[in-house]
Formats: sequence, structure tokens, C-alpha cells
Amino acid sequence: MENGAVRTAQPVIVAIDGPSGTGKSSTSKAVAAQLGLSYLDTGAQYRALTWWMVTNGIDIDDPSAIAAVAGKPDIVSGTDPAGPTITVDGVDVAGPIRTQEVTSKVSAVSAVPEVRARITELQRSVASAAENGIVVEGRDIGTTVLPDADLKIFLTASPEARAARRSGELKGVDIHTTREALIKRDAADSSRKTSPLAKADDAVEVDTTDLTLPQVIECVVTLVEEKRAGK
Ligand code: DC
Repeated sequence: MENGAVRTAQPVIVAIDGPSGTGKSSTSKAVAAQLGLSYLDTGAQYRALTWWMVTNGIDIDDPSAIAAVAGKPDIVSGTDPAGPTITVDGVDVAGPIRTQEVTSKVSAVSAVPEVRARITELQRSVASAAENGIVVEGRDIGTTVLPDADLKIFLTASPEARAARRSGELKGVDIHTTREALIKRDAADSSRKTSPLAKADDAVEVDTTDLTLPQVIECVVTLVEEKRAGK
């Protein structure tokens, strides 16, 4: 820092991992906003790359075709938790990356090692540019992307609770279909060879099944504050 100025708080890096439907995004955004930290949704980056592959007619069933173009699109994430953004080659894709088509294809694209290498590099550069610190949410943040994070959280919830939450978000999709799709995607994300969805050994596991969102947020904020106080 210039002139030997002293920061009031050290930048803190928080990794929040877990499967979908555990309240990961809502929790991560709220924690970042409350603590004045940046926020990165790494799932959105994999979705953005998948959207680009689909839009450009890349064969999703051909890992070598995916690998060959993985470095092509320019993916930029805005890290303000009050309004995170994502663009691909300058195009706002916040809406299109949430379609069923992208959701059903993102696990295949994100399993390709060249994709993971490229997106992991991007994630590390975003994290190191965050002056006040950052909350990074994903599947492999604590294990692979930021193994030296100050705090690692692994959120879990029963499949029923996760499906109920997702059905609430995806209005009109029945809970059984949502539960099946969610279990299939978790299985694919957990069993891939390169940096699968996994809890880091030093992560704090929080089971959100019987907790409200405000309770989960409070729990994580407290854990971050305790970490900061101990620094
Ligand atoms: O969090 P999400 O549902 O938007 O993530 C979409 C997909 O991206 C998820 O099914 C697996 C992949 N993903 C990943 O492989 N690694 C991450 N760190 C984040 C997401």
C-alpha cells in the first residue's frame, strides 16, 4: 500500500462450495454485500462458456472439439454482489446462461480439462484483483482454485430440500423432474476426473436443510468475522 497506510481489515478470501440448491448463490452474494467484499459466481463462467459453445454449434459430446475452442471467447465477470454481471465477447449473457439447454449441457463442458484450466486461471486473476477480498462460490474453489483461501465453507442439504428450492426458482417445473435433473448433474460434477465437486479437508460443512436463508447467511458471516478477528 502507498505511504505505509494501514488497512482496517486484511483482504479476506472466502471459498463457498457445494452442490446446487443449497443456497450457495444467495448466501455468497449476501455475505459479500454485508462484509463489503467482491463476489464471483464461477458456475456462471462455466455456463457462459457452455452458452458460447451451443451458440456456435460446437458438438458438446466431443471433448476434443470443446477443448480446441475453450480459449476463444472472452468471458468477463462483474463482481459487485449487488449486481453481478457476466458477458461473453461483450454480450450480456446473464439471462441466456440460465436456460434449461445450457443447464443440461454445462456438466459435459465443465468436465473438459482444457475448459477447467482456462476458467480456473480466470478465477484466480479475478480473486487476486479484489482489493477488499472476495467470496468465490463454486464446486472446486476450496480444493483446487483457491486452496489457500482464508475460509472454506461447504454447503449441503438433503436432495428433497434442494429440489424444493430449485422448483421454487424454476416456476412451472415439477419437483420430481427437478430432483432427478439435480441428482444427475451432481453425480456428473462429483465423478469427473478433473477437480470434481468435493469438500476440502479444511472446509467447514454447513447443512442447510433445516435452516432459513437468513440463518445460513448469519452463520457464514460469523465464521468470516471470527477468521478476520483471528488474523
Ligand atoms: O452453480 P451452477 O449451477 O450455476 O453451476 C453450473 C455448472 O458449472 C455445474 O453443474 C458444474 C459447473 N461448475 C464447476 O464445474 N465448477 C465450479 N467451480 C462451478 C460450477
